[in-house]
Amino acid sequence: MRILQSLAFVASFAGLLVNAQDACKPQDRTFSTEQTPAGNYQPASVFMSPASQLSPKFYISVVNLTPHRFILENTHSYQMSTFDFGDVPQGKSRQNAIKYRNRIATQDDAGEAYYRIYGTDKKFALRVKGTGPLVDQRSVTLDLSGMNLGQRIYQFPGGESSVTLVITGSSKYGFYASLRHDRGGWMRWIYNTIKDRPVRHLFLPGTHDSGMSKITNKIRSIGNSFNTQNQGINIYDQLRAGARWFDLRVGSVHDDNNPARNLGFHTLHVNDETATVCIGNSGESLDEVISEINLFTRENPGELIFLSVRYLIGRYETPDRGPIYWGAQLWNDFLSKIRGVNNRCPNLDTSVPFQNQPASYFMDRNDGKGCVIFLLNGQNLKDVPKEAVGDGLYAQNRIGVRDHWSNIQDINALAPDQISNWKDLKRGGDKDFGQFHIAQWLATPNAVASTAYSLQGFAIQQVNPALYWAGVAGMSPESWPNVMMVDYIGVQQRDQMSWNMLSAEMYWLGIGMNLYVISENCDVNKLKSPLVKARDLESAGGEKSWNGIIFADGRSIDHPSPELHPGHTTILRNGTIFANGTVLETTIPNPWI
Ligand SMILES: *[C@@H]1O[C@H](CO)[C@@H](O)[C@H](O)[C@H]1NC(C)=O
Ligand SMILES: *[C@@H]1O[C@H](CO)[C@@H](O)[C@H](O)[C@H]1NC(C)=O
Repeated sequence: MRILQSLAFVASFAGLLVNAQDACKPQDRTFSTEQTPAGNYQPASVFMSPASQLSPKFYISVVNLTPHRFILENTHSYQMSTFDFGDVPQGKSRQNAIKYRNRIATQDDAGEAYYRIYGTDKKFALRVKGTGPLVDQRSVTLDLSGMNLGQRIYQFPGGESSVTLVITGSSKYGFYASLRHDRGGWMRWIYNTIKDRPVRHLFLPGTHDSGMSKITNKIRSIGNSFNTQNQGINIYDQLRAGARWFDLRVGSVHDDNNPARNLGFHTLHVNDETATVCIGNSGESLDEVISEINLFTRENPGELIFLSVRYLIGRYETPDRGPIYWGAQLWNDFLSKIRGVNNRCPNLDTSVPFQNQPASYFMDRNDGKGCVIFLLNGQNLKDVPKEAVGDGLYAQNRIGVRDHWSNIQDINALAPDQISNWKDLKRGGDKDFGQFHIAQWLATPNAVASTAYSLQGFAIQQVNPALYWAGVAGMSPESWPNVMMVDYIGVQQRDQMSWNMLSAEMYWLGIGMNLYVISENCDVNKLKSPLVKARDLESAGGEKSWNGIIFADGRSIDHPSPELHPGHTTILRNGTIFANGTVLETTIPNPWI
């Protein structure tokens, strides 16, 4: 007995020693308190003027979600009146500004910024270059070949919009960047980092009006792709692009002459689903949504996916005679559809609010295949149950949510409103906020503006780019939202929705927030940050290292010749300006590569 006790004592003492060494310590924090210069939102006057779209001013935002400072080593620029780049401290972002002297490109214009990642041998370069005589024949190249992370060329964004680069990881963990998506199952990949965190201490990308990735005209109304479509890629691709929280609005559509005839369940986006006359349109069918989720979870088992479902009401094909509230028949038809979703999680412990359960509580379910959780907003469910716990459909209030919708059109008012709303939440320790906060990083334009400039335009030109400097600057290890909900996730170029044209900023922001920023809060993360520990913590990183090139049209090559650096200029012309302000007075070979 005594021997057993002392063995137990030795064992627990050894455990303490390991813990002390592996513990998160506030003095080990690397997250910088330094502020980078404030950025600029794309002005509405520029966004709304086709002529201004050709403005020679634009930005490259760099987001550093690593424990290393990004040091600007040098820049040179030719034919540019602004070439303002700078260091990016750990956990921060910087909106670097570029303005060409001429609206019309000259093929010899060129600018490059060279960065080094402090304390490592890693380097990267950002390039802008004229490629032809037309105003938009300019390109931006993010060259991470010096980190074995490839190169990507973006079409000139112009119009005071931006191209964004997100880098996360560390020298010990390996580096990752947003030039491309990785395998889709990011939560399973960083399982060891997030498994013990309550769900309210996660950061999840989310999508708004998630089913509206197309317009399907199942109801006869005036909603069109400009004012009613909120996404460019379907639910399967949204999942691959990192989204784990979905805003699904599902309704049944009924025969104009026979309300008892349900023509099908569809995602809808309408102004008011209970109004006598509602306007909007339909998106993906519920069947499509279900098969897309099943395809993703089959390929990527072990994730946690929240589907926040509302409307749950019927409308006539011509939606001019009020709603049809669901009775037992429609509710049962809906339930039998939902039973087709694999990896639902029935009979969860409803005595614990979901936001307080550790991520592993959900991710380990279904033999490790994870959880697809339905959260129903039951405000339109009158004479039918508001949840079906045995089928994995829960009332929305099973999770304590604060959902902040700004209802603002202009990004310069929208962004500060969202940020101030999550900034006062403290995470971890005695003052923990305790709830799950949803930030709706999306514009709500009035009908005239959305019809003229499109929800896509607002998202990809103004709103999403601002997330990566303003939004990131507003987050810290103590304050961040749990869901960052956006329109047009992954879409970077207008109307370019094919997978190889998408951009992976949100995917890597999601990973980097969980891996780096949140791990720096020792009240949330008791163990040493995975990025400063040796690599063995996670089951080996993402895909094999890739050092190819993705061109502006989406084509890519996997094994470019080592000399190929698009946008790189081999000579520096007389008149080239360096970072220190020195102007070159003769033409020389470019000493950097
Ligand atoms: C400015 O930078 C250039 C390029 O790095 C360098 O050759 C030059 O000596 C620097 N000038 C001064 C005054 O530091
Ligand atoms: C460089 O440009 C300046 C200004 O245009 C000019 O005065 C100078 O002669 C040029 N130098 C050379 C070596 O061409």
